[in-house]
Amino acid sequence: MTASVSGAAKDRVLIFDTTLRDGEQCPGATMTLEEKLEVAELLDTMGVDIIEAGFPIASNGDFEAVALIAKQVKRATVAGLARAISADIARAGEAVRHAVRPRIHTFVSTSPIHLAHQMRKSEEEVLEIITTTVTQARNLIEDIEWSAMDATRTPIDYLCRCVEAAIKAGATTINLPDTVGYATPDEYRAMFRAVRERVPNADRAIFSAHCHNDLGLAVANSLAALEGGARQIECTLNGIGERAGNAALEEIVMAIKTRGDVLPYETGIEATMLTRASKLASAATSFPVQYNKAIVGRNAFAHESGIHQDGMLKNAQTYEIMTPESVGVSKTSLVMGKHSGRAAFRNKLEELGYSLSDNQFQDAFERFKELADRKKHVYDEDIEALVDQNIAMAHDRIKLVSLHIVAGTRGPQRATMRLQVDDRIVVEEQEGNGPVDATFNAIKALVPHEAVLELYQVHAVTEGTDAQAEVSVRLSADDRSVTSRAADPDTLVASAQAYLGALNKLMSRGARLHAQHAAE
Ligand code: KIV
Ligand code: ZN
Repeated sequence: MTASVSGAAKDRVLIFDTTLRDGEQCPGATMTLEEKLEVAELLDTMGVDIIEAGFPIASNGDFEAVALIAKQVKRATVAGLARAISADIARAGEAVRHAVRPRIHTFVSTSPIHLAHQMRKSEEEVLEIITTTVTQARNLIEDIEWSAMDATRTPIDYLCRCVEAAIKAGATTINLPDTVGYATPDEYRAMFRAVRERVPNADRAIFSAHCHNDLGLAVANSLAALEGGARQIECTLNGIGERAGNAALEEIVMAIKTRGDVLPYETGIEATMLTRASKLASAATSFPVQYNKAIVGRNAFAHESGIHQDGMLKNAQTYEIMTPESVGVSKTSLVMGKHSGRAAFRNKLEELGYSLSDNQFQDAFERFKELADRKKHVYDEDIEALVDQNIAMAHDRIKLVSLHIVAGTRGPQRATMRLQVDDRIVVEEQEGNGPVDATFNAIKALVPHEAVLELYQVHAVTEGTDAQAEVSVRLSADDRSVTSRAADPDTLVASAQAYLGALNKLMSRGARLHAQHAAE
């Protein structure tokens, strides 16, 4: 079986996005149901072939998210992950069954170290498990992916026996992950070549690469796997994922597109949507994108040195191997002010890739007007921060109504805060060691909770002293950690909003928080 498109000179590579599964597994990157649905919709629109929507057995919330994404996605295959356990496979099958194209993705460890210490099973026992579990999955759904966890540290003879058993039992895609990010490109390419040459039924499956970035080689390894015969790459937006992350989708897509001379492949991804997708993933997970990140970082197309700027003015190709427009970066980011009307705002949103419902548009427009009253120039980044925050907060149970701060050289600093918790208004005044501490103390008094503040970070959305402050807050409780981000020209308001955003996320994940009874 091959994934090549007939008549086309280039082989088609399937893009399997696992932002919602491996990406969400990264500590603090938890997304709400609404955020997951939004990310899935964008992935579908931009041409991702397979969306791994989650791990249905992990919790009822994960099951519900996969089931809803399966119903909502119009074009892409929707996959649910399952361990090689009967209950996992049944749950994954149940979650994806309403998808236009459902897939069960089941995996088991194959390396000696995993067999001895994690599974405590013999090679023969694992071979039997592969046959039983892949057969069970195939009886539920036609499209089955099987993964050999820690494939790159598995002896090749045994790996070949496992792959042969999985294909014989009905697997249609074989994924050989570099689970611990240990392989080099040469090794990874050679592993695919060897397995495809030696396994007698290898032509009945598509081979897939899944690389972690512990040594910074995830993208290079994924591209090497293509030379070894893989035709599916598993990746995530912004490269988020366990530990150092997964291969970054945008880097894979643009490497293939830009270096067609040495990488004779093509993907179905609409590259002009990459910037928007990266920003959405960053907003949903509240994980900032590093400034110098390839393709989607803020500096990816910035030219600072005089020699570079001179070259760029004479001919952009002197220092640019792809255009900013080709990945969806708009030409100018100076946009609007307080005189801009609804039509201009709607246009701008479309240009930035948003399609909002009437209610969402109305809320966003009101917030834009408030911001434009306080800030002379409203830039694209301001609008994105504002809209993303509106979408993220739409279903929040705890909302900031007002915040008044007394700060300065003569302490103690005080915060008076009014919150709406469901349909009640609660008020509290607290002191603190500085205004941020006072603000967070007021929240703790109004919504008593055990969550621990793991991260508090502030940076400016744009330049200038009237720039919005973007605050990230990470909280952890009950072994879960969540991150939330908020922007406002007032750093303390943004801090309160970010903290409340994280609390709301924890609440939607079932952590034990108690809203104080109305003090007013
Ligand atoms: O890294 C890995 O091995 C995985 C598997 C579940 C495919 O994420
Ligand atoms: Zn992984």
